[in-house]
Amino acid sequence: MGKGNRNAMPDDYTDSPIRKIGILTSGGDAPGMNAAIRAVTRTAIFYGREVVGILHGYKGLIENNFKPLNSGDVSNIIQLGGTILKTARSMEFRNVEGRQMAFQNIKNAGIDALIVIGGDGTFTGARIFAQEYGVPIVGIPGTIDNDLFGTDFTVGYDTALNTIIEAVDKIRDTATAHERLFFIEVMGRDAGFLALNGGIASGAEAVLIPETDTDLTTLEKLIKSGYRQNKNSSIVLVAEGEKAGGAFNIARQVEKDYPQYDVRVTILGHIQRGGSPTASDRILASRLGVAAVETLLEDQQSVMVGIENDQISLVPFNKAIKYDKEVNHKLFDSIRVLSS
Ligand code: F6P
Repeated sequence: MGKGNRNAMPDDYTDSPIRKIGILTSGGDAPGMNAAIRAVTRTAIFYGREVVGILHGYKGLIENNFKPLNSGDVSNIIQLGGTILKTARSMEFRNVEGRQMAFQNIKNAGIDALIVIGGDGTFTGARIFAQEYGVPIVGIPGTIDNDLFGTDFTVGYDTALNTIIEAVDKIRDTATAHERLFFIEVMGRDAGFLALNGGIASGAEAVLIPETDTDLTTLEKLIKSGYRQNKNSSIVLVAEGEKAGGAFNIARQVEKDYPQYDVRVTILGHIQRGGSPTASDRILASRLGVAAVETLLEDQQSVMVGIENDQISLVPFNKAIKYDKEVNHKLFDSIRVLSS
């Protein structure tokens, strides 16, 4: 098949020297990582390749924590949250010595190439490792934050969004019953995708994200006008990386300025990272898993496989890491209109 022509029937990639593929998950886990592990394993086996699971991300690479994966090992995991390979944020892999040990271990195990599933940090490690040792590596975007450039969606984002709206719906019940103003903090250290789209989907009055400056005066006016129009409760979604100091600080300030409001704060926290992946995340993870193996066998490396306009995209690690994916600022206007 022509390189990149994914509508053609797959060939068997007999020309590719890659016989054994290592797979790992790294950084924060995301629902759908297991579906991606399954897809990678099954695809590699389909093409007659061997698969080795590396436990605990880059830490396992350094500590030689490997286990062979066969088709049966990835049965019944498509619906599971977390990652059967475990994950970690490895400090040792940031050091030359750590990466040297990792390379020795994959060489000894006969691993020819790697597929890494994770976010920014995962691809940064992969890029350096590939540069230093020439190991072919392909990445799959797996993070609930959806903050990777070159892909419309990352694995785990849709499930986290659904968890958020389920939680906000419940909070809205009690907020309405008590006529309270709730500040709900969602994940997103550096990115506001979860807050912004979670805000639209849950009917929030306002959303605060790291990408824009928080203007408390405007926020307070907005809340005030909402109450004036006989709303008996208000929900404001705050991304954890928001610049005015987070949900608790903002709530304290608003309470001070408007003592008549009954204010509460809820931090959703790691509940957003767990749970069974949605259909969208399972489909995305499965498609990206197939694409990752085919990309490696087509002799491409140091790229992330992503999805753009429903088509598989290949994004060099450099770009995926370096460029910021922009949130759609027009969504703020929609929130203002919809909460009026
Ligand atoms: O990167 C994913 C993410 O869930 C962020 O949204 C969050 O800030 C971070 O991970 C939390 O990481 P940890 O679980 O290590 O505290």
